[in-house]
Amino acid sequence: MSEDKVFIFDTTLRDGEQSPGCSMNLGEKLRMATQLEQLHVDVIEAGFPIASVGDFEAVREIAGVVQTAAVAGLCRAVAGDIDRAWEALSHARRPRIHTFIATSEIHLAHKLRRTHAQVLKDVDAAVRHARSLCPEIEFSCEDASRSDIGFLAEVVAAAVAAGATIINLPDTVGYAVPEEYGHMFKEIRARVAGIEHVVLSTHCHNDLGLAVANSLAAIQNGARQIECTVNGIGERAGNAALEEIVMALKTRGEYLGVQSDVVSEELLRSSRLLSSLTGMMVQRNKAIVGANAFAHEAGIHQDGMLKSAITYEIMTPQSVGIKHSTLVLGKHSGRHALKQRYADLGYTLAPEELERAYKEFTAIADQKKEVFDEELVAILDERPVELDSYFHLENLHVSSGTGVRPTATVELRRGETRLVDSATGDGPVDAAYRAIERVTGIAGTLTEYSVKSVSYGHDTVGEAFVRVEFDGVLFNGRAVSTDVITGSVKAYIEALNRSQASLTRKKEQAKVEMEVTA
Ligand code: KIV
Ligand code: ZN
Repeated sequence: MSEDKVFIFDTTLRDGEQSPGCSMNLGEKLRMATQLEQLHVDVIEAGFPIASVGDFEAVREIAGVVQTAAVAGLCRAVAGDIDRAWEALSHARRPRIHTFIATSEIHLAHKLRRTHAQVLKDVDAAVRHARSLCPEIEFSCEDASRSDIGFLAEVVAAAVAAGATIINLPDTVGYAVPEEYGHMFKEIRARVAGIEHVVLSTHCHNDLGLAVANSLAAIQNGARQIECTVNGIGERAGNAALEEIVMALKTRGEYLGVQSDVVSEELLRSSRLLSSLTGMMVQRNKAIVGANAFAHEAGIHQDGMLKSAITYEIMTPQSVGIKHSTLVLGKHSGRHALKQRYADLGYTLAPEELERAYKEFTAIADQKKEVFDEELVAILDERPVELDSYFHLENLHVSSGTGVRPTATVELRRGETRLVDSATGDGPVDAAYRAIERVTGIAGTLTEYSVKSVSYGHDTVGEAFVRVEFDGVLFNGRAVSTDVITGSVKAYIEALNRSQASLTRKKEQAKVEMEVTA
């Protein structure tokens, strides 16, 4: 069977970013978009321009920098949304307006309160309007998998007749099972005249853990675009994971009769970048990009692997971007060696990035004999603190042990101001977090906390991850350090700084909205 191309539509920056604790600022979104281009995805959905000034700006900026992929902006099937999306997208090399309306009885009755006839009229008007602005129009039937197939076919026919070039049939609530979801595509292809002139697309949520399986079932029934997110981030249980889709197409492409143009060697790097930008780590046993994905533990497996890798390995670690080397750096390694090592690992560092990495590297190399590749990558994933309004850790002193009440003294800097205070707590981390609350006057509730080792040995670098609720909103933080208490404190400060950035964005948006309504 000849292998057809499947278009990979990445919605990490739109559907993915909607998931709690995954919000990114403009700079972070631009960094991610640049990496998505390296990955060679076909479409980058950059945001929902009408949703907020921040989203509008992000779509506009991303549209300006992306060179090869199409850039999509989401909008409801109403003229105002479509115009706003077009304002953000029009200067893209390949703009795509992505407009949607719900089609299930549940959504029509309880959310839209619209009749079938009204929805059909809305679809026709919205798609015609969008098409008058932009040649590439994607139309999505929200909750397609729970829609009446007859009505769904009518809506799709209306969208195709009005000029849609891509039709997306989402499993919005992650309810479908593969055979059923695939069947929906088969039916739509059989019922809608002219459907062969548009690309059919799948968009699956993972509530039952079936998002990737459902996406593949759609492919087997004629879909040729898959919407997915890096690390599977997204609403609730997330979206279909891009890395799983890409490796399924690569590993089983012959069976499925399809292939994608994604550079799979960039998968791990994309996954790590997203984790570092959002603070949302992947679980160790996550397929493709989890720390254990290529680790063979059982004796019988190790024996087989040593005899021949194909006994237990269906894809190579190298094919997803894992690079191994026996060369380790230590405290005598200079900038040049560090730069070279990063280059070998596939990272080209700008001079200021190298400088920052070198500073972190020497601090770690002072504490331990050998610095491993995993630790070098973890250093790179640390984000430089950008704003004056952010808090920086200047000094930390903690005393704890058996028979003493743990005490922490924290000194933070915010712009030119230095803030110092101490507190006691149930443990050293608790004491430090309480001290931060005292110096900043900002209370947060820790909802998740973990520390894991980045590489090997008891002197390895620890990676701390926290999720903290400030004013009812969750923010993630991540940091690496050879000292787990310092790492924990830095991770907390990162979450705190994210909450400050979000407050600033909200204030700016309220100001713009006041100006618009004045
Ligand atoms: O899940 C969904 O239905 C969506 C659409 C808006 C494409 O995200
Ligand atoms: Zn979705």
